[in-house]
Amino acid sequence: MKILVTGGAGYIGSHTLVELAAAEFDFVVLDNLCNSSLVSLQRVEAIIGKPVTFVEGDIHDAALLKQVFADYSIAAVVHFAGLKSVGESVAQPLRYYENNVYGSQVLFKAMTDAGVFNVVFSSSATVYGEPAEIPISENCPVGRPINPYGRSKLMVEDILCDLAIADPRWRIALLRYFNPVGAHESGTIGEGPNGIPNNLLPFITQVAVGKLPQLSVFGGDYPTHDGTGIRDYIHVVDLAQGHVAALRYLQDHTGVHTWNLGTGQGYSVLDMIKAFEATSGVSVPYKVVGRRDGDIAVCYSNPAKAMAELGWQAQLGLERMIADAWRWQSHNPSGYKDER
Ligand code: NAD
Ligand code: WQD
Repeated sequence: MKILVTGGAGYIGSHTLVELAAAEFDFVVLDNLCNSSLVSLQRVEAIIGKPVTFVEGDIHDAALLKQVFADYSIAAVVHFAGLKSVGESVAQPLRYYENNVYGSQVLFKAMTDAGVFNVVFSSSATVYGEPAEIPISENCPVGRPINPYGRSKLMVEDILCDLAIADPRWRIALLRYFNPVGAHESGTIGEGPNGIPNNLLPFITQVAVGKLPQLSVFGGDYPTHDGTGIRDYIHVVDLAQGHVAALRYLQDHTGVHTWNLGTGQGYSVLDMIKAFEATSGVSVPYKVVGRRDGDIAVCYSNPAKAMAELGWQAQLGLERMIADAWRWQSHNPSGYKDER
C-alpha cells in the first residue's frame, strides 16, 4: 500500500517524503511543479537511497487522479498541493480558490470514487485569524482569516468536516502548521522561494548571503517584549514527522482530527535576527519600518493535543532551525534554480 503525496516536490512535501521513507511508508508523488522542481525529488532520492515514484500532473485532472488510484494501491493521501502566497492571494483571489479549494474538491471526489478515505491536510494557523487566546489551542475559535489564502484553507477544512458527517468511512487529519522554517540537515533540500521572499527567515538568510541589502522589520510598536511580532517557528523536519504520526493515528481512528503543529514557543523578529547572527556569525543589517498590513502581534501554539494524542512533539530548537536554514541557503544561494 502506498501514500499519495500531492505537492510532494515542494518545501514541506519533500521533507515529509524523507520522514515517510524513514518510517517505511511507501509513496507516490503527484505534483504539477508550479512552485517546485524535479531537482528536489532527485535530492530526496539521494537522501533516502531509493527512487521516488513521481507523476507530473495537477490535482484538477480527474482523469489522471483516477488513473493514479487505479495504478497504485493507495491507502491514504497527504495533501500538500496548493498555492501559499498571502499577497498573491489578495491580488488573485479566484486563482487561489480555484487551485486550493476546487482542486481539493476534485481530489476528494477522486478519492471517494476510488474508495480511499484517509487524508492528511496541510492547514495553517492562519485559520485562527486574530487569535482569541494565546497560546492557541485547537478549540480556539477559527476567526475570520484575513486573506483569501487563509480562507481557502478554512474552506477546505469545512469541506472535509462535511465529508466526515456524510460518510463515516472518512479518516481526516487537519494539521494546522505554525511557521515552518529550516531544512534537512544535509543542506540539499529546503525552501526555494521564487523572487523576493515574503517570510522572515528566508529573507534573513538572503540578506546574509548578500542577495538582498537589508531586512525591513515590520513594526516596532507591538505589545511584545521588544515591540516586534512574535511567532512559533517550527523546524520543517519536526513538522514532517507530525505527518507520519498523523497517518499512524488515522490507521485506528475515523472522523476528523485537528492538531496544531508548533513548538509552543514564541520568538520575536529581533530574537530571530540575534539568534541568526549568533549561529551563523554573519550580521544582518535591518531597519524597523511600519507594520505590514494584516499582521498580528503574537501567534504561538499550545501543542499539547498533538503530544497527548499523537505522541508527537517538536524536538529541534531555534539554533538548529537557523543552522539548517543557513546551511541550505549558503550551499544553494539560488535554491534549486541553477539546476532547474
Ligand atoms: P510549496 O509551494 O513548496 O509546495 C506546494 C507544492 O504543491 C508545490 O510543489 C507545487 O508545485 C504543488 N502544487 C500547487 N498546486 C498544485 C496543483 N494544482 N496540482 C499539483 N501540484 C500543485 O509549499 P509548502 O511550503 O511546501 O506548503 C505545502 C502546503 O502546506 C501548502 O498547502 C501550504 O498552503 C501549506 N502551508 C504552508 C505553510 C508555510 O509557511 N510554508 C504554512 C502553513 C500551511
Ligand atoms: C513572521 C514575522 C512579520 C518578513 C505567513 C503566512 C501564514 C503562514 C506562514 C502559510 C512577522 C515579520 C517578516 C520581513 C518582518 N503560511 N517579518 N520582515 O506572517 O507569521 O505567516 O507564513 O500558511 O499564512 O501569513 O510569517 O515569516 O511572513 O512573518 O519583519 O521581511 O516576521 O511581520 O512578525 P507570518 P512571516
